[in-house]
Amino acid sequence: MNYPVWDVPVIGSGWVIGMIAIFHVLVSHFAVGGGIYFAFAEYKARKEKSKEWLSYLKGHSKFFLVLTGVYGAVTGVGIWFAIGLAHPEATSTLIHNFVFGWAIEWVFFIVELSAAAVYYYTWDKIPAKLHLKIAYLYAAASVLTLVIINGILTFMLTPGQAWLSVAGTGKEADQFWLAFFNPTYFPSLFLRLAVCCSMAGIFALVTASQIDSETLGAFKVLVVRWSTRWLFPSFLLMPIFFLWYLAVVPEESKGLLQLGMQTIGQGTFTQVTRAALVSVMGSATVLAIVYFIAYLYPKDFGTGHAFAVLFIALSATAATEYARETLRKPFVINQHMYSSGVRQNERDKFNQEGYLTHSPWVKPEEKQQWASQQPLAHADQVERGRLIFLGQCVNCHTVKGYRSMEILLGERDRKAIGSLLETLHAAKPDSPYTKFMPPLVGTVAEREALADYLSTLGTKPLSSSPLMAEHRASDPTVHK
Ligand code: HEC
Repeated sequence: MNYPVWDVPVIGSGWVIGMIAIFHVLVSHFAVGGGIYFAFAEYKARKEKSKEWLSYLKGHSKFFLVLTGVYGAVTGVGIWFAIGLAHPEATSTLIHNFVFGWAIEWVFFIVELSAAAVYYYTWDKIPAKLHLKIAYLYAAASVLTLVIINGILTFMLTPGQAWLSVAGTGKEADQFWLAFFNPTYFPSLFLRLAVCCSMAGIFALVTASQIDSETLGAFKVLVVRWSTRWLFPSFLLMPIFFLWYLAVVPEESKGLLQLGMQTIGQGTFTQVTRAALVSVMGSATVLAIVYFIAYLYPKDFGTGHAFAVLFIALSATAATEYARETLRKPFVINQHMYSSGVRQNERDKFNQEGYLTHSPWVKPEEKQQWASQQPLAHADQVERGRLIFLGQCVNCHTVKGYRSMEILLGERDRKAIGSLLETLHAAKPDSPYTKFMPPLVGTVAEREALADYLSTLGTKPLSSSPLMAEHRASDPTVHK
């Protein structure tokens, strides 16, 4: 716990990041794919000297500018704020490793955003050739933002052996390139580029759906059909890129997914498997609506259809990102830093010297007290336990709300809680908890304090998660 803790009631900090990120992912992929779309579409419109196409593109570029320039940019910065608060240690590690990567990223962002604004405001005001060049510039800058950010995102799931071998030695920056072009870099880049092209098509359909079928019927058929084509190649390629991606994800990370897959027949899905299914089925539905309505009957394709497609695409994106995030659990930087901000190689230190004693945010005069290897007075024990809970548990749990401690602790008494915490502390590889919860670190006295605190919560009936029910059945600490 090296930073003040961001304890978000009810939904937890994870969902704050999640809610911003889901919209950001959708809009940012549109920002990249849309750039490529405009470059091709304007080239085509100019070549065919089609006034209708140009006027459609002008309208679409306004929608594009507002959505990407305002919404995309604000949510992008929002993610930064949120991760900095929720995962300060991890954010700091990313910045220290990739400082030049980030700097370059911001340069591309500025070029991208400026180009989008210039592109919209210079329609009919500058020579056609120059306007087209701005489209190319925008497309290049936006693809480059993905090229950069993808290295940093994929690093968190697969930092790679080269980087892991120097992690914590101060020589991490020497491995910049290997960390950047890590094992999942390329499959993820191609996967995302495919998503970008689909998003370009989907958002283009939103604008195209508003073209009046009565007066501009023939043109609407052209635009709608041309835009739907942006979805087909990427949907064909996506499964291939996805299998490639899965092939390079480390075995340990696939554990939860496989557990869910094997037990599908018995009805015990893990959350990550469910998310993966929503993602696949959502994508298939998008493709079906786009083909059967937009492609076959373009004139009938209305705004309602377009928003339905957009909504399903949003759900599929949200599910995919959720599954991807969950693959990495209980790590925030795989095999290096747990979601609790504790580094794997710091476990012994915290276990021997104490967790709170190492926190710069515990008041120096209080450190002495928390360092005690003896149980303190009850009220102090509870406070000491609460601080540990804030440091190691609130990244995934809340007291009342999302993954509520009150509900999850259920009817466990002080003794049962104590032995559950010992299971978390030991983190044996065969314990099911080890797949999704980081090891609990701290001295015996600190673990006791956490148990004291937790036993002030919980009394409600146990949650009915099937996965948990299965673990619980084999968990002697649960009172049945
Ligand atoms: C990386 C995320 C993460 C962290 C950090 C984490 N947990 Fe969990 N925990 C989970 C998930 C996921 C579940 C399963 C929840 C469900 O089934 O709804 C869970 C379940 C539990 C349960 C219920 C277990 C059961 O068998 O019913 C308890 C109790 C629990 N966590 C306590 C803790 C405590 C105490 C900490 C801090 C020391 C902690 N967790 C830290 C992710 C986490």
